[in-house]
Amino acid sequence: MVRLILDSPSGGYPVLMGTNLQRELRNVITRMDPTGAAIVTDTNVRPWAVKVAKAIKRAGLKTAIHAIPAGERSKSMLQLETVLSFLERQQIDRGGCVIAVGGGTVGDLAGLAASMWQRGVRLVAVPTTLLAMVDSSVGGKTGVNGRRSKNAIGSFWQPSAVISDLAAIETLPAPGYRDAFAEVVKYAVAMDRPRPRGRDRIPGHPRPCGRIRPESRCPHRACHGPLQQACRRLTGCAAIVSRPA
Ligand SMILES: NC(=O)c1ccc[n+]([C@@H]2O[C@H](COP(=O)([O-])OP(=O)(O)OC[C@H]3O[C@@H](n4cnc5c(N)ncnc54)[C@H](O)[C@@H]3O)[C@@H](O)[C@H]2O)c1
Repeated sequence: MVRLILDSPSGGYPVLMGTNLQRELRNVITRMDPTGAAIVTDTNVRPWAVKVAKAIKRAGLKTAIHAIPAGERSKSMLQLETVLSFLERQQIDRGGCVIAVGGGTVGDLAGLAASMWQRGVRLVAVPTTLLAMVDSSVGGKTGVNGRRSKNAIGSFWQPSAVISDLAAIETLPAPGYRDAFAEVVKYAVAMDRPRPRGRDRIPGHPRPCGRIRPESRCPHRACHGPLQQACRRLTGCAAIVSRPA
């Protein structure tokens, strides 16, 4: 397991990454000692939320789950209202916390609700998509979309903890995973990170074979386009060096 402490204007918070982190989650919640906890998730990720609820129950805290419809359309004022009503029904007071279990959609919506409810209650992020793990769960940006504008209504609200259980990635559809991996490549290039080890390679991606193959035969679409050099550096794909001049 990897533990990081992220600096933020409102104080640092832990980011835990690994597998089977239910016990870590329980420890985090025990240390936070909230007066109540409410889980926000989406309809696809509900099984993960149930696991989270069980872990929290072992910390001696009763909790309930609110599942929004999966997908970007749920980043709306309408769903924000349903989440706020849920927090009201659960009688979450200023000592309580919101637990966001899902991708960036759930994280942004639940984060905004947490920042508004009772003028701000604590937020624990349990990201379940690669994008949410590497991007949206850290940094404190929350929000919903306006009728014609993306992320127009929002706030900055830092989480109290981020718990990324990598097991969640296993059920992710491949395109979402690949898109998010492009973000990982972007960060790695921008921040000049060293190349990840072999096991971080994208599933189905060829091992570096040292031979140059036509780009068209590269099975990994993320290797195409402007990120290809960076992707090559990170994944060792030989195919991408052969782009026709
Ligand atoms: N706040 C930020 O800093 C920040 C940064 C980047 C993106 N975002 C926002 O994040 C959103 C996109 O997030 P996303 O890409 O995670 O999409 P998402 O949250 O909409 O999830 C995509 C789909 O994957 C499903 N899913 C989630 N976890 C799963 C799992 N473990 N297994 C199977 N299916 C799973 C969801 O139910 C959904 O259908 C956008 O709204 C974007 O604006 C926010």
